[in-house]
Amino acid sequence: MQYELNCIGILTSGGDAPGMNAAIRATTRTAIFNGIKVKAIYRGYKGLISNEIKDFQTENVSNIIQRGGTILKTARSDEFRTPEGRKIAYENLQRHGMNALVVIGGDGTFTGARIFAQEYNIPIVGLPGTIDNDLCGTDTTIGYDTALNTIIDAVDKIRDTASSHERLFFIEVMGRDAGFLALNSAIASGAEATIIPERKTKVDQLKELIDNGFRKSKNSSIVIVAESDITGGANGLAERMRIEHPEYDVRVTILGHIQRGGSPTAYDRIIASRMGVAAIDALIDEQRSIMIGIVNNQIVHVPFTKAIKDDKPINESLVGVLQILSI
Ligand code: F6P
Repeated sequence: MQYELNCIGILTSGGDAPGMNAAIRATTRTAIFNGIKVKAIYRGYKGLISNEIKDFQTENVSNIIQRGGTILKTARSDEFRTPEGRKIAYENLQRHGMNALVVIGGDGTFTGARIFAQEYNIPIVGLPGTIDNDLCGTDTTIGYDTALNTIIDAVDKIRDTASSHERLFFIEVMGRDAGFLALNSAIASGAEATIIPERKTKVDQLKELIDNGFRKSKNSSIVIVAESDITGGANGLAERMRIEHPEYDVRVTILGHIQRGGSPTAYDRIIASRMGVAAIDALIDEQRSIMIGIVNNQIVHVPFTKAIKDDKPINESLVGVLQILSI
């Protein structure tokens, strides 16, 4: 081994995601199992700069696998974007004797990690923790499955009232310019259509879809809209429908941060546990600047540069599945 690996730091950064705690637990316990000390860094890169760091033992991660959110707290740090901020972060890393980092988060987290690792020659491994599922090189991210289940639970309830009142609902889901949550929740909840940033849908096309639905057998319609300036969001679309097609009784629900909370599903707990173990294995194996991913149910290593590329494609065949099933 070219470098000492006797103490690692763990942090969570960016938007929280259900399953982050399972990942913290797995990473901590695997490190300790391998004789590596663990330092918990609170509030992401912000806490690394402000020195909010504490020793972790196995008992610090007891009874957390089932909890949503992150026990390490999370933050978005503007200071870490500056060389001065990263210098202080590095000094704190040294002060605590950490010689590697495991960072859990999304593209912002890995962008910061990539620069930090390069500047100070630090081994850093990332775990994909975001409900958006927008990281390249992995089939899924920690938190995505739980968020999908939360969405379909909410949509099922909205369907009850939508059909009682014979209304058209636009339901906005999260995703930060990515349509994975919207498209898959639309299929899983039997929605009539989805509007996602990856595919342009004109209001006229949408109207045709909805008309078809109402004309044939349905007395309600649900359209899942991905939040994004490109889609115009649920409010924007609903406004246009109201003006251009006043015959519909339109309502809007924005699901918001409810999608980020809750106890992780079994699937998220399992992938978070597997990925946490894989992160420590990768560090022992002298890997650095990689994200742990899952492809075809196998652990893979994805360079940060690839993971944060802005082009994770949606599965086009799923759009066809939704169209066929919503006739
Ligand atoms: O990246 C996760 C996410 O929940 C996005 O889907 C959403 O756009 C964003 O975070 C919301 O961020 P905040 O909690 O800072 O409002």
